[in-house]
Amino acid sequence: MPEPSTADTALPQGSDVDVVDLLLTQHARIEEQFLLVVGASGAKRQEAFDDLVRMLAVHEAAEEEVIHPLSRTIADGADGIVDDRLAEERQAKEMLTALLDADVDSKGFEASLLMLRTAVLTHARHEERYEFTQLRAKVPSERLRALASVVRAAEAAAPTRPHPGVESATANLLTGPALAAIDRIRDLVREAARKAAS
Ligand SMILES: [Fe+2]
Ligand SMILES: [Fe+2]
Repeated sequence: MPEPSTADTALPQGSDVDVVDLLLTQHARIEEQFLLVVGASGAKRQEAFDDLVRMLAVHEAAEEEVIHPLSRTIADGADGIVDDRLAEERQAKEMLTALLDADVDSKGFEASLLMLRTAVLTHARHEERYEFTQLRAKVPSERLRALASVVRAAEAAAPTRPHPGVESATANLLTGPALAAIDRIRDLVREAARKAAS
């Protein structure tokens, strides 16, 4: 069996699953995907990295569309907390952008990838500690459950790379320049999130 290049941690299903459950699962999946990139080489590493780029684009766009705006409404000092998270997201995106054209087997790639991993995982821990706990404490649970549909819609709008032989519009758009592909994913996710939230 060849090593998979995509973390396949399934999103939890069921009517009692809320948006925080899904975002926590995505955090775990992103963490796993970094390991898959580091553990691979050549074309496999490129595939795993492309999947990581897509996962991060979907996840951060869904948070920026739904979670951070909601967080701003629930606590004193929340604006500062959210501004700090957005700054972390911007910084991670810059680090990621710098990696897009790199040779995935170069020494520089691995060093930069590990720095990105630290930034992304630290950012995720901050969200879990400062935002997710507040959301669970202060937002009615039925609202949090309803918002799960936004994350599901975001995933559906930009699915991970299809298995060989499966063609899709998304697969086609991902063959373009990587940065344009990220921006396109974010647009798709925003659109899907808005529809699901309205
Ligand atoms: Fe985030
Ligand atoms: Fe996150």
